Amino acid sequence: MSLRSREKRRLPVLVLPGLLAMCVACITSTIGVGKETPKPEQSAGANISPKREPGEENPGGNATTRKSIHTRDAFSHASNGIGFEGEANFKVGNAIFRKLWVSAPASTKSSDGLGPLFNSRSCQSCHFKDGRGHPPAANYPDDTAESMLLRLSIPPETDAQKKLLAEHRVNAINEPTYGGQLQDFAIQGHDSEGHIHVTYEDVPVTLDDGSTRTLRKPAYTITDLKYGPLHPKTMLSPRIAPPMIGLGLIEAVPEAQIRANTDADDKNGDGISGRANEVWSLEAERPMIGRFGWKAGVPSIREQSAGAFSGDMGLSTPIVTEPSGDCTQAQAFCRNAPNGNTERDGGFEVGPILFDLVTFYAQNLAVPPRRNMDDANVTKGKAIFHELGCASCHTPSFTTGKVDGQPHLSNQRIWPYTDMLLHDMGDGLADNRPEGMATGQEWRTPSPVGHWFD
Ligand code: HEC
Ligand code: HEC
Repeated sequence: MSLRSREKRRLPVLVLPGLLAMCVACITSTIGVGKETPKPEQSAGANISPKREPGEENPGGNATTRKSIHTRDAFSHASNGIGFEGEANFKVGNAIFRKLWVSAPASTKSSDGLGPLFNSRSCQSCHFKDGRGHPPAANYPDDTAESMLLRLSIPPETDAQKKLLAEHRVNAINEPTYGGQLQDFAIQGHDSEGHIHVTYEDVPVTLDDGSTRTLRKPAYTITDLKYGPLHPKTMLSPRIAPPMIGLGLIEAVPEAQIRANTDADDKNGDGISGRANEVWSLEAERPMIGRFGWKAGVPSIREQSAGAFSGDMGLSTPIVTEPSGDCTQAQAFCRNAPNGNTERDGGFEVGPILFDLVTFYAQNLAVPPRRNMDDANVTKGKAIFHELGCASCHTPSFTTGKVDGQPHLSNQRIWPYTDMLLHDMGDGLADNRPEGMATGQEWRTPSPVGHWFD
């Protein structure tokens, strides 16, 4: 099936986790079922005016795009102010983001090394048009889960594993045979690991006014396991690809500003207890605050991108150097397959120059300006957003710090509507799979910027 036809069928399945999260968050905060229930009168945003605030029309500060947002490419513009050279690098980065990788050895040395196991052949197949992914519209073989993946891990079993977790050196203990995620594709001559299978149960919910809504509750299993049984204690976490806009600005928020909103034990009694994730940085070789991924499991865009090249496509980079990606010791055939490392690329499949360019691209996908801000329903909605306490987690605004070599991302007042912290969202949204400091019920507040385009 082509991406285009799948795109058309996207809306009915969008509920998870995006809109489902929104609905459940709304319900939990109005009828008070969730673990963290804001007390509206004390919430951080209670005193914010529902009227337009200075700069609010540009959620990405001066880096907000000035280009047309009335196109299918609304999420694909470069940061405003990126400069001539920046624009050129952004374009090359875009080409790498869209590049379809092939298995090694191939005549096109610059594009080979895919797999052996993989989820997608390009970054863009998951982050389609730089937007979000979706669960499969139907189960395999009618559709494939190309823009989502399942993370896999087991509870720690040995003292050595417990130590690794306690020192924040790893976020989770990988499933011993299948590794850190399920790869549902493989290059020719290799078996894919299995397929994601989703079933939905309708859950009726009664709102305060007595009306009812139906939420779809998904259950995930894996079919066609090709490398033997999963460890009996395997924990699964479904992840759809998040949108790519504004990420360089999120990365540029000084750590102290994020930490200022943490309140792990809810000392201020507002019903909200945000916590920061502390995760290992492979580059800094120490724990750092986590910002990226659904549980804030990754500290930087570079490390998120290196993780994607390795885990999602089986490609080596200067940060994650193993060319066979997520193939485990138990998958020897896969580990010994030919790879695409070349001298020209510094001994990697994705060399340092290409890697820096794709990271630069991921840092510079611009946020679109807000629309219809003075519409009566929008100002009313904003007031309700603050009254209900949404802003206690969806922190409206931050100011970025200095980003070396990228003045256009530096010192900008931005409006991402996220505190980037972990919150206990209750049983209904739990994946029951811890990641770093995040428990099986905690998720990072995502930035809802861009929902205007859904
Ligand atoms: C306790 C903190 C908290 C409060 C209060 C809260 N949210 Fe959220 N919100 C979250 C978290 C965490 C998620 C992600 C949940 C997940 O991944 O399953 C989320 C997800 C969302 C999403 C989906 C974003 C996306 O990109 O998928 C929207 C939209 C949203 N919330 C809107 C709201 C609104 C509107 C309110 C007020 C009625 C609200 N939230 C209150 C923490 C909160
Ligand atoms: C198989 C689908 C898939 C592919 C291919 C993929 N991603 Fe992602 N991407 C995801 C998912 C899923 C997440 C969320 C990860 C998590 O929660 O652990 C993500 C998260 C990210 C984030 C962090 C976004 C945020 O808001 O936290 C960045 C940056 C990113 N990807 C960049 C890339 C780049 C660069 C590539 C290509 C090298 C790529 N991705 C390839 C699925 C994919």
